[in-house]
Amino acid sequence: MATTQSTGHLYLIGIGPGDPELMTCKAVRILKSTDVWAVPRAKSNGTSSALAIAGGLIDISGKTILELNFLMKKVYLGEETDAEQAGAWQASAARVLGHLNQGQDVAFPTLGDVGVYSTAFYLLSMIQEQQPHLPVTIIPGITAMSACAAGMKSPLALGNDILTVVPAAYDDQRLRSILVGTDAVVLMKVYKRMDALISLLTELDLVDNAILIERCGMAEERVYTDIRDTKGKKLHYFSTMLIRKKHYRENQ
Ligand SMILES: C[S@@+](CC[C@H](N)C(=O)[O-])C[C@H]1O[C@@H](n2cnc3c(N)ncnc32)[C@H](O)[C@@H]1O
Repeated sequence: MATTQSTGHLYLIGIGPGDPELMTCKAVRILKSTDVWAVPRAKSNGTSSALAIAGGLIDISGKTILELNFLMKKVYLGEETDAEQAGAWQASAARVLGHLNQGQDVAFPTLGDVGVYSTAFYLLSMIQEQQPHLPVTIIPGITAMSACAAGMKSPLALGNDILTVVPAAYDDQRLRSILVGTDAVVLMKVYKRMDALISLLTELDLVDNAILIERCGMAEERVYTDIRDTKGKKLHYFSTMLIRKKHYRENQ
C-alpha cells in the first residue's frame, strides 16, 4: 500500500536587527536543528543579510541554503502586485515547497521581527495558496526600532504616548499629519528620503527631536544625533529614525 508522505514544517524566524546576540534562544535552537534554510536577498548577485547574521553565530556547513531572489520592490497593499515582484515570490515559494513537499523542514530567518515589514508573509501567503494546511511556526524577533531605542537609552513610548511606525520610503501624504498628531514616531526605510524628511521636520519644528541610527548593533553602526549631518551622505538601507516629542524625564 502506498504511504502518503507528510510535509515538512515551515519556520519563519525573526533574528533581530543585526547583532547575532540579539537572536532569541528559540530562534537559535530551531535554526541549528533545521537542515534547510531559505534566505531572502534583494539582488540575484547580492548577499543575504539574514544569512550573514544567523550564519555568524550558527555553523551552516552541511545545511542546504536556498538563496531566494526577492527583488524587494515597493508593495502597496490593496493594489495589484507588480508582475515581476509577484513572479519572484512565486519562484521562491516553489523552491521552498519543493523541500517541504519532500518532508523536509525549512527555516526562513528574517531581519528583526517577522511581523514588522518582513517579506516573510509574502512568501507564506504564496506557499499557503499551494499548501493551505502546512504546519507553520512563527518565532518573533527583536525589532530594529527596539534595538535602536535601547541603543539610545530612550523609550519608544511611555505613559499615554501614542507611537506610530511609518515606512518612510513611500511618498505618503499622511506623514505630515502623523508627525503633528502623534507623540512618538519611528521612521523606517528612510535611507533615500533624508533630504525631504529633514525639510519636513524642520518646517514642523521637530528636527531637533529626531535621531537617526544606521546599522544598529553592527560593526559599522553610526548614530546621527543631528539628522542634518546626513545631508549629502549615502545612508545604508538599515537606517531608522526615532522622533519623540517629550523627554522621558520631563515629569520627574
Ligand atoms: C524591511 S524592514 C525590516 C524591519 C524588521 N522586520 C524589524 O522588525 O525591524 C527594513 C528596515 O528596518 C530598519 N532596520 C533593519 N535593521 C536595522 C538596523 N540594524 N539598524 C537600523 N535600522 C534597521 C530600517 O529602517 C530598514 O529600512
